[in-house]
Amino acid sequence: MANPAESLRSALAERFGELFAVDETLAGLDELARIAAHRVQRRYLPRDVAPDLLRLLCACALSAPSKSDLQQCDILIIREKAKHDALAGLLPEMPWLGDAPVFLIFLANGSRLPRIAQMRGKPFPNDHLDLFFNATVDAAIVLATFLHAAEAAGLGCCPISLIRDHAATIAKMFALPEKVVPVAGMTLGWPAEAGGITPRLPLSVTVHEETFGDANFAADLDGYDRRRDAARPYRNQRNVDRFGRAEFYGWSEDKARQYASPARADFGAFVRAQGFCLD
Ligand SMILES: Cc1cc2nc3c(=O)[nH]c(=O)nc-3n(C[C@H](O)[C@H](O)[C@H](O)COP(=O)(O)O)c2cc1C
Repeated sequence: MANPAESLRSALAERFGELFAVDETLAGLDELARIAAHRVQRRYLPRDVAPDLLRLLCACALSAPSKSDLQQCDILIIREKAKHDALAGLLPEMPWLGDAPVFLIFLANGSRLPRIAQMRGKPFPNDHLDLFFNATVDAAIVLATFLHAAEAAGLGCCPISLIRDHAATIAKMFALPEKVVPVAGMTLGWPAEAGGITPRLPLSVTVHEETFGDANFAADLDGYDRRRDAARPYRNQRNVDRFGRAEFYGWSEDKARQYASPARADFGAFVRAQGFCLD
């Protein structure tokens, strides 16, 4: 990496449209610059990821903090071609899934704790929403840590929450036991292209000091839509039949259209059927 302070400043400027002060003597600038330059990768080289490297990344990811040290995230590694083909068949809208040498599923495992309680002859009065929530949060943290570890090693990833559109099928395909649910999948491989930084909402919207406040939300959102459009305009508009063609199509219009149709409304039923209590 050239000058990590400069790389960091430039990645964050592209991301947030703002110049951040960076102390050039700060420790860990290389790592910060890599985190700031994150981008998902959806195109992969036809090159395998060595099993030892994959295990190393899993170990790094599972070094992430875990709520009460309960360790409720598991990682499922899927390398077999037939299984990749089956997953790609389920998700035809994500053709790169078939190209990635590795597919991972980050699992919220709420089964280990009640099982341990039973093994140790203890009651388990905590079979409620918190069990699901804690396990899901652990899985999300492990997913993010895996992504950063993989990017540090030069690999590329794309988390795939769309697998939850087929949660029951996935649970059956991979023999997920009771109280184990997929939080997200992830394609992993060696990047076939550099990819680009996706702009994020400004910190004036997402960072609150001392008390919550978003008094300038409308103006900030408009500014973000315009900045993002200048850097990465949308190639297609969603649901033109239903909403017409917008003269200006920004991020907020896209997200409003995306969430104007119900998605995964049956996920709660799946999680309950998988044995979690959500009360
Ligand atoms: C939990 C999670 C689920 C995601 N699911 C999908 C998905 O199903 N399909 C997809 O193409 N991208 C998916 N993504 C990637 C996001 O679309 C991507 O992170 C976002 O567009 C921002 O781009 P960036 O990560 O390059 O900054 C997911 C990301 C996360 C964190």
